[in-house]
Amino acid sequence: LPGRPGIIAAYPNRIPVPDGAKVITLGEGNTPLLPAPHLSELTGCTVYLKVEGANPTGSFKDRGMTVAMTHALAQGLEAVICASTGNTSASAAAYATRAGLTCAVLVPRGKIALGKMAQAVVHGARILQIDGNFDDCLELAQKTAAEFPVGLVNSVNPVRLIGQKSAAWEICDVLGRAPDIHCLPVGNAGNITAYWRGYSEYAADGLVEGTPKMFGFQAAGSAPLVRGEPVSNPDTIATAIRVGNPASWAGAVAARDESGGLFDAATDEQILAAYRLLAVREGVFVEPSSATSVAGLLITHADGRLPAGSVVVCTVTGHGLKDPDTALSTMPEVEAIPVDASAVATALDLR
Ligand code: F0G
Repeated sequence: LPGRPGIIAAYPNRIPVPDGAKVITLGEGNTPLLPAPHLSELTGCTVYLKVEGANPTGSFKDRGMTVAMTHALAQGLEAVICASTGNTSASAAAYATRAGLTCAVLVPRGKIALGKMAQAVVHGARILQIDGNFDDCLELAQKTAAEFPVGLVNSVNPVRLIGQKSAAWEICDVLGRAPDIHCLPVGNAGNITAYWRGYSEYAADGLVEGTPKMFGFQAAGSAPLVRGEPVSNPDTIATAIRVGNPASWAGAVAARDESGGLFDAATDEQILAAYRLLAVREGVFVEPSSATSVAGLLITHADGRLPAGSVVVCTVTGHGLKDPDTALSTMPEVEAIPVDASAVATALDLR
């Protein structure tokens, strides 16, 4: 389909919705699969970036939210709720507005990036800050949805992950094959679970030969899957993946094991180095969590786990504008000059 009709219209046979349901879409999906020349040269691989910041609310969450909100409306719900490190709540707020539903979001106090909070505010969500981390928020959202008439739109809602599979299908459709390796940041682990299901489904249907190895990367201070046990006080500058006890733990382990992939951790320094590299060398501005896939790419290249010549896709999950504080935290003083062309020329060393 031309343009961006939304993923339900693009993949009607793969994303079932209730008969006669009104589809709630903001035109998500069909995001760029962008060649990354600098990363390709550094690694000796053919590296692509799946730029999910190009979705309507600036993250991959929109792929799941169109499906979750379409189902919520069809079920006659009047309100939805989610826990979030910021992107799920931004997406839920926008799609709920589109559906005419009330949206409540539970977020860890002081730990969500500014742009994401702005999104929940402008779309009119009921925002509740919790004195706890994401894991506490999710538990609370689940309990509330179990006891009161409100629909849970976190990725523990299975239709969310059906929508998120669409990113893997798009990659295969554009490349005409599956990549050899797929690198992802991992927080609550829904996305790596969804990608793996998406790739597996395409391979099972004979649309591609084989599946990629799934490489999942967590922030070192928040790496339960790497350590093999929950982390009670997760901490990282990559607030979107500050998750200590991922809900889709089993799905992520299946993705790794069935694909012959791996989990590893990147330090905040490595994440920020990848964040800057993406911005300065590839022209792609992502939020810190998103750069974790690229930090992991560089780690596995450096220690020999990334075979040269591989076709690699790194998903960059959210837009850099989500987190202006991190972007500006290293800003040098900006020069002020008079309204004068020669002053501009002098400042820029032009002659
Ligand atoms: N990258 C970004 C930008 C995210 O917002 C998230 C998750 C992830 C990666 C990790 O994806 O959880 O499927 O493993 N954000 C969730 C949220 C937790 O509440 O917005 P995951």
